Amino acid sequence: MKILVVGSGGREHALVWKLRQSPRVTEVFCAPGNAGIAQGATCVPLAATDVLGLAAFAKKEGIGLTVIGPEAPLTEGIVDHFQQEGLRVFGPGKLAAQLEGSKVFMKALLKKYGIPSAQYEVFDQRDQAVAYLDRLTMPVVVKADGLAAGKGVIVAQTKAEATAAIDCIMTERAFGTAGDRVVIEEFLAGEEASFLAFTDGTTVLPLPSSQDHKAIFDNDRGPNTGGMGAYSPAPVVTPALHEQVMAEVMLPTVRAMAAEGHPYKGILYAGLMIKDGRAKVLEFNCRFGDPEAQPLLMRLKTDLVEVVEAAIDGRLDTIRLAIDPRPTVCVVMAAGGYPGSYEKGKIISGIAAAEEVEGVQVFHAGTAAQDGKVVTAGGRVLGVTAIAETLAAAIAKAYEAVGRISWDGCQYRKDIGQKALRRQ
Ligand code: AMP
Ligand code: GLY
Repeated sequence: MKILVVGSGGREHALVWKLRQSPRVTEVFCAPGNAGIAQGATCVPLAATDVLGLAAFAKKEGIGLTVIGPEAPLTEGIVDHFQQEGLRVFGPGKLAAQLEGSKVFMKALLKKYGIPSAQYEVFDQRDQAVAYLDRLTMPVVVKADGLAAGKGVIVAQTKAEATAAIDCIMTERAFGTAGDRVVIEEFLAGEEASFLAFTDGTTVLPLPSSQDHKAIFDNDRGPNTGGMGAYSPAPVVTPALHEQVMAEVMLPTVRAMAAEGHPYKGILYAGLMIKDGRAKVLEFNCRFGDPEAQPLLMRLKTDLVEVVEAAIDGRLDTIRLAIDPRPTVCVVMAAGGYPGSYEKGKIISGIAAAEEVEGVQVFHAGTAAQDGKVVTAGGRVLGVTAIAETLAAAIAKAYEAVGRISWDGCQYRKDIGQKALRRQ
């Protein structure tokens, strides 16, 4: 079977790497892909949001299964369009993808169905939103309703910061129509974890727990990024907490979506805040996390094609996931300046040497091929991912490999996985 993966990040490289291992796969295509993906798949120069172009390509090429990486094509309805064209595709439809695409939709659903989350109010008028701040104690969290490439959430320590966030979203329109409405939300303290599961709309098949590192600098300092590293499992998700999350978050959400007439199929990713052994939902994503996909797919032993097809056909109840018990760690290497402005086109050296470290895979994100060399082409550039018997050994291997890679201005966090080590 021919497979098409849509997207161009580290998550999509990990998806291509995993799907290629399936005995059922003859050829993998990726649109648009990156320099690392091009080593294992045929890259197709179509944007991830070119829904019509992608469907036409899938038809012409006889693609048997398409896996969507990022959220933007999902919220634009790529799955609905592929299905109308008779193409097999993995991911939620447009209305189901609102769980990520609209924070107002998500918060209202959680409230209606009693799923634990932060208290909140919604505003479509700037002045009313600002006036509401007088009734709150700081910090608060201000969120643009729609997709904002991970930048539409501001944790405000003071009323002035919250007002500036509201103005940025609603007055300056930093995120366009995503800022038509804001959610103002109670600040939740605790430790974050990512909880991802396959679902066919009825059965929820969880992947192991994982944890992202959102801030740019060590010890969670500095502005948020798309994610500077991840590991799995996350010990903060104890077996008891796992049960609570399944019973109080994942299953009720999938049932709620079905009850609302938007049955949810695909990956359901809950971003959780955990405090005193209880979890509340910070956000839902309608896709694999990036960088969580890299360490998670490295631990998944089951053929991903089997799981994805079972989800599409509504028979996930027949699948058991085989998971490698060994922990995995992914360290993201980013361009200097990221998440602010950064330069591109820097020549990267040492990737092959890094991959010689036992148990290490280097997943590419923002890379491109230029004159036979691999150069930087984005903010997050590489996800150096390692598997080993213990978390400490996986961390050591990942950093040994990171140490072999360099380019002008490269930056990475030195503390990926330390939170988990402190819990051991
Ligand atoms: P979101 O996209 O909603 O997950 O928000 C991005 C990040 O903002 C989260 O990963 C948290 O670090 C932070 N955040 C979001 N909502 C809250 C909240 N209610 N309390 C504390 N931190 C939050
Ligand atoms: N790692 C965070 C995300 O994928 O949204």
